[in-house]
Amino acid sequence: MDLHRFAAVDTYLDGLFGPPDPVFAAALERAEAAGLPAIQVAPVQGRMLQMLAHLVGARRILEVGTLGGYSAIWLARALPADGRLITLEYEPRHADVARTNLAAAGLADRTEVCVGRGLDLMHELIQAGGAPFDMIFIDADKPAYPDYLTAALQLTRPGGLIVADNVIRDGGVVDPASTDTSVQGVREFNTRFAADPRLSAAFLPTIGAKGYDGLAIGVVQQ
Ligand code: SAH
Ligand code: DHB
Ligand code: MG
Repeated sequence: MDLHRFAAVDTYLDGLFGPPDPVFAAALERAEAAGLPAIQVAPVQGRMLQMLAHLVGARRILEVGTLGGYSAIWLARALPADGRLITLEYEPRHADVARTNLAAAGLADRTEVCVGRGLDLMHELIQAGGAPFDMIFIDADKPAYPDYLTAALQLTRPGGLIVADNVIRDGGVVDPASTDTSVQGVREFNTRFAADPRLSAAFLPTIGAKGYDGLAIGVVQQ
């Protein structure tokens, strides 16, 4: 089985939902035109994120790692009209594209793109002591994943969800001696995610248009 076949299955599955949604097509075009890397989640995973947000009845969602706002559109579409998605992005250029994409998707009223280091912004949110989040999606720099988990556990309500992308890394995570700082960050994240008594955790390996990777999904104990 080659990657073409996996990508073809993604296209097939996405096609089951009807013709391509012009909102997503335009968002991807803008991201590409602005020179952003095409590392957004695949449509199959976007739909999964949206469903998870629905399942948890999300009214407040936090995303770490916005890029051009592609996953943010999937997530924000699961929100009620008075819901809120806050998404954190280090690169101002990425944040600009994301704001344009979220506005074009009709989601400007319920989304906020904040520029800065994800961890700093999460600490600001903790300090501010606002309402906790129903769902947090971690998808920024991989070496910081363990720190994002620590902060996410302080920002998620009981019964809420913590989801992380890229926890398989083409299978690289099985190598304890890896010299890749992203693999090491994700390995540490996975170890803690699985063992943390505050979480009921599962891993969902994925293969498709974006290669071999996976999502970590954890429910914060009530
Ligand atoms: N969630 C997006 C993809 C995010 S790609 C989607 O699926 O559509 C990862 C993003 O994290 C990039 O835009 C990168 O600039 C950003 N990033 C990297 N380091 C960061 C940091 N320390 N804080 C916040 N964002 C960071
Ligand atoms: C990278 C980041 C991601 O979030 C992703 O889904 C794929 C690749 C990266 O930094 O290379
Ligand atoms: Mg990712």
